[in-house]
Parts: sequence; structure tokens; C-alpha cells
Amino acid sequence: MTGSRIVALGHYQPSKVLTNDELATLVDTSDEWITSRVGIRRRHLAAPDESVADMAARAAEKALAASGFDAETVDLVVVATCTAIDRSPNTAAQVAARLGVPAPAAFDVNTVCSGFSYALATADHALRAGAARRALVIGAEKMSDTVDWTDRTTCVIFADGAGAAVLEATADDEPAGVGPVVWGSDPRKGDAVRIDGWDPTISQQGQTVFRWATTQIAPIALQACERAGIRPDELAAFVPHQANLRIIDAIAGKLGLSDSAVVARDVVESGNTSAASVPLALSKLVERGEIPSGAPVLLFGFGGGLAYAGQVVRCP
Ligand code: UT7
Repeated sequence: MTGSRIVALGHYQPSKVLTNDELATLVDTSDEWITSRVGIRRRHLAAPDESVADMAARAAEKALAASGFDAETVDLVVVATCTAIDRSPNTAAQVAARLGVPAPAAFDVNTVCSGFSYALATADHALRAGAARRALVIGAEKMSDTVDWTDRTTCVIFADGAGAAVLEATADDEPAGVGPVVWGSDPRKGDAVRIDGWDPTISQQGQTVFRWATTQIAPIALQACERAGIRPDELAAFVPHQANLRIIDAIAGKLGLSDSAVVARDVVESGNTSAASVPLALSKLVERGEIPSGAPVLLFGFGGGLAYAGQVVRCP
């Protein structure tokens, strides 16, 4: 085995949509402030009885159906999430049970907003090592559970959803479809995003994270291209964590992308869904046919921790 590739993607968003105008009836904010400072126009929120595992399973079900693989052939399930309430069974085991995956290695990963790229790298490493052959890698979040709906600095930003990828080990003569990961963190700034305690409420030092993301992330993201042997102007798409449209555009502007490269801006329609944002945005772009199959795409997650991770993948 030489590596792994993404075979198919799927995503799920809850049906309830909350607009900026509706938020302006809850807190002292406005559509103008939210669109100009964060770029979000609307976001999806889970129902009170809808869990992270529910959303993860819906996204994974779609990805699995698109892959054409039987659930019985999946031997690894990894879920990236920072909002799952249950400790046992973990989210990955719950997803496996619902989908009928009989005996997978199943575990959750929490690196907050960079979680999907960590989960993807971990699954890729397992497939490279021969420890698994087919994996489900999922990012799923119910951020609304952690939001104080009277705090205008956070309640306008975060949202719920899930995205999933089916991964398969590649054969010896097949090129790898998941490039080397570049990952790390700045723990000294870890307090800049907090979701802590038994009944956690999200809080953040917005400007600290903003400055870190807009100054530190682009050079690291370029390392992921270098390690994959891809020039930035060869990328068909850039799919960063959907934190803030201004952050996305600031990082994209420093990468040297070609004019035809697609930049994921799903934050506008979906808000910030933490670990779900990268697979959700990627799955939507692929569903809409905006990235050709086999084309190189740079994924890059960053946020709480302050952790980051990214890799170049070949579009399924
Ligand atoms: O994904 C997890 C990682 N987190 C991030 O990536 C977040 C990164 N940071 C950001 O995206 C931005 O810093 C925010 C969107 C969080 C905030 O935008 P900002 O342009 O940095 O605003 P600010 O915090 O400097 O606040 C400017 C003003 C303040 O009022 P005063 O003190 O100038 O009177 C805030 O109280 O905007 C006020 N404000 C709001 N006004 C209307 C804060 N939130 C709101 C709001 N509506 N929702």
C-alpha cells in the first residue's frame, strides 16, 4: 500500500435556518455588522434532540452510499468533534452502530476547528501502515449547544452540521490521494478559544485568533503544498476552515493561487461549524461539480488550541 485516497464525500445540515435578521431580534447586532465583519448571512441549527452522532451518521451515510462500498467493509471510523456530549460510546462507535459497520476501530478526535484534517491524517496514517483498508472520516459539530444566546460576540458566528469522507487504501502502483499532513499548535495561545467545564459555553479572544490566523497560517499551508509536491498555482481549490470570510480571503490572498482556483466560502451560507466546516464545504463544492475529479485541493483547518492541520488531497 502506498497511501490512501478519498473515494466519496457526503454532508448534512439541519433543516432549521437562522438568519442575521432573526439574530438581531435576540441580541444587539445587525445584518450589516455580521456580513461586513464575519461574512455570514445564515446558518443551520440542529433540533434540541438532534445530536452530534445523528448529524455525523447522516453525513457518513451519504458518503458511504456515494462510495458504493458496503458498510461491512469499513474497518476504521474517526470522528472529529469538540461538541459531542457522550463519552461512551464515543461518536465514532455510535455512527458505526447506526450504519451497520460491524467491527471497526472507532475513535473521536478533538482538536476543535482543525479536527477534520487531524482525523484525515490519522486515518491516512493507519491506512498507510496497513492497520485498516477502508475508513470513514467525519467532522461533526453541534456548536449551538455551547453558545450563550445572549452573547453577540459568539452567537452570530457558530453553527451546526457534519461532513464525511470515505477513504480507501491505494494499491502499490496507484498515486496517493491524501498528501502529507502539516500539523501543530501554539498552546501558549490556547486560552484564546475556550469551551470548558461541565456545562461549557464558548468564548474567544476574537482579535487574537484573527491576527494569528491571518499572519501565521498561510506560510504553514504553503508547507503542505510543498510536502505534496504541488505548486500553489496548480491547486484547483483551497478549502480552509470556515471561520470568517475576512480570514478566508486574507489567507487565500497570500497563497499564490491561480485565478481559476476555487476558494471555499461556505461560511456565508453555513456559519462556523468548527471541525465540520472543511468536509462540509468540500462536499458541497464536489456535489456542485466545481472541482474536477482528481484535481489537487488544499484543505486547512485552524482554530481552538490554537491548533492547525492541513494537507493536499485529490478530489474524488
Ligand atoms: O473558529 C474558531 C476560531 N475563531 C476564529 O477564527 C475567530 C476569529 N476572529 C474573528 O473572526 C473576529 O475577531 C470576530 C468576528 C470574532 C469579531 O470581529 P472583529 O472585527 O474582530 O470585532 P471586535 O471584536 O474588534 O469588535 C468590534 C466591535 C466591539 O464594539 P466596541 O467595543 O468597538 O464598541 C464589539 O463589542 O464590535 C462589537 N461587536 C458587535 N457588534 C454588533 C461584537 N460582536 C458584535 C455583533 N454585532 N455581533
